[in-house]
Order: sequence, then C-alpha cells, then structure tokens
Amino acid sequence: MSRENAIEAVNLTKRFGDFTAVHQVSFDIPQGEILGLLGPNGAGKTTTMRMLCGILLPTGGEARVLGYDVARQPEEVKRRIGYMSQKFALYNDLTVSENLDFYAHLYGVPRQKLKSRLAGLIEMAGLRGHEKQRAAEISGAWRQRLALACAIVHEPPMLFLDEPTAGVDPVSRREFWNMIYELAGRGVSVLATTHYMDEAEFCNIIGMMHSGHLIALSDPDSLKAGTQGILLEIECDDPGRAEEILAVLPHVVDVALHGILLHVTVPDESLRPTIAESLTAQGIHVARTEIVLPSLEDVFVSMVGAENRAGVRTETD
Ligand SMILES: Nc1ncnc2c1ncn2[C@@H]1O[C@H](COP(=O)(O)OP(=O)(O)O)[C@@H](O)[C@H]1O
Ligand SMILES: [Mg+2]
Repeated sequence: MSRENAIEAVNLTKRFGDFTAVHQVSFDIPQGEILGLLGPNGAGKTTTMRMLCGILLPTGGEARVLGYDVARQPEEVKRRIGYMSQKFALYNDLTVSENLDFYAHLYGVPRQKLKSRLAGLIEMAGLRGHEKQRAAEISGAWRQRLALACAIVHEPPMLFLDEPTAGVDPVSRREFWNMIYELAGRGVSVLATTHYMDEAEFCNIIGMMHSGHLIALSDPDSLKAGTQGILLEIECDDPGRAEEILAVLPHVVDVALHGILLHVTVPDESLRPTIAESLTAQGIHVARTEIVLPSLEDVFVSMVGAENRAGVRTETD
C-alpha cells in the first residue's frame, strides 16, 4: 500500500447468490482526489461503496481503505471514514444543531472540540441562523448539506457519498460540490456516486460502471479525448427518422438522440457532408451540422455500446 492512496481496490467482487452485482472492480484513489462512480441504477455503485465502507463483506478480491483491509479490519475502516448513504438518516424531530450534536457524540468527538467543530460545520453548510429549525422544516438542499456536515463531524480523511445530490436542483448541486472541493482541498479523499453525467465533470477521476463492471476509469478530459472518431451534432427536422436512416449507414459508428438533436459518431471529419447528404436525399431538411466535443453522456453511451458489441463478458466469467 503506497501512502498516497486513500483507496486501493483489486478485483473487488460481490455476489448475491448466483448474481454478480460487482465484478472484479479495481481502482485507486490518491489522497485528496475525488473519484466519481458513474452509471445507471443497478450498475453496482452502492454495492461497491458499501464494501469499501466495511459494511458489506466482499465475496472476492480485496480492498484497502486508509491502509486497512475492508474484509479483515472493517471496524478500523468504519471509524475513520465519513459515509453519506443514499438514504441518509437525519432526525426530523431534532433541530439542525441537535442533529450535528447527535452525530458528534456517536463518533466520539471530544467535548472540548465540540463547540468550535459544530460552529465550523454550520458555517460551511451555510446553515447559520437556522440552527434551531427542525430538520423536517428545512429544504431538500439544506438537508443534504446538513447530512454532509453530520457525515464529517469527526473530520474523516476519507468520505463516501452515495448519490448525495439526487433530487436537488442544479444550483444547489453546485453549492454542494463547492463544499466537496473545499474538503478535497484540505486533503480529504472522496468517493462519490452519481447518475448525473454533468456532475461527474466535478470529479478528478471517473469510473464508469455498467452491469457490475468498471468499463472505464480515467479523468474526464481523457475519457472524452479517448473516444473514437469525431462527434457531429445535427439539427434537422424529423430527428427520429433521421436516426433510423443514419443508424444503418456503414461509416456511422454511433447515433443517439439528444432531445431534438442527433449525435452521430463518424471516423473522421471528411464524412460530415456525406452525412448531411444522406439525410437530404431522404427529404429531411438539415438545419445545421457541427463538430462538438463529446459530453460524458456521449462517452458513456459509446462505451456501453462497445461493451455490448463485444458481448459484455458473460455473467459466468
Ligand atoms: N442485498 C442484495 N441482495 C441481492 N441483490 C442485491 C442486493 N443489493 C443489491 N443487489 C443488486 O445488485 C445490483 C446492483 O445494485 P446497486 O449496487 O444498488 O446498484 P446502483 O447503486 O448502481 O444502483 C442490483 O441489481 C441490485 O438489485
Ligand atoms: Mg445506488
């Protein structure tokens, strides 16, 4: 275990009966970095996280968190991490302050540090002036920030966030991520899961999960740069029919609808006029074709496509 890695996972696997929820997942998180696990529901993100938190015993592979083996030393791991689970538990009948106080006692924060610690967290979470409000009375975005404050009340060097901003508006999500940045800036390492593709852009490293497999692991820019060919964004009438026409063209690698726009992957730029002509020939008016940088969503779609074409390594391997 190198000292710089907060997490080292090697072939981490979880089977439930004969179903494999997480299949040989390997990655490191260097200290102070934010790794985002991205993927649709059921991909295995929560299961991966729960194994790393020492809550769920792996059925294969191994992982060290802050130097401790998650299977053999789960209590050592649990004591040193912060975990904001998908359904984080705030006490609705308690006030903002009382919730923090409760978690501070649970984690054994020393008495003499309590007051300044809680004041700092209230400040960081932007909850000053709301200390006496009951958790049930504050907005979803504030509850999320309070939950984060509760999860870090013992100042853990490693933080696990399971879909921390689900259901929160974009502005509040950004504010939440600013808090995460601040923590990472202080050396805290973070593993966060999300299914918001845009949110993954906030992470230093992205792991894309699909059907229990980690199908990509890289920084956001490399992931985008690593996609094959170029991406054309096409605005035309009848995008649905245009998609069908383009899907069967031999030089089209991928085509996907993005709202009313089409995203078409082709091997190189010279095909741009050909694509437009193919549509015009079928009576579709093309308003615009433009070369765009792929979003993480494009990358994900193309990775999953490639994985499926390769016949997603069977469930039995
Ligand atoms: N305790 C369990 N028993 C059986 N299957 C489970 C259990 N927990 C999770 N699963 C299954 O494992 C898969 C991955 O779940 P999960 O890790 O929660 O995915 P995600 O967090 O990416 O949505 C799902 O198909 C889920 O139904
Ligand atoms: Mg989940």
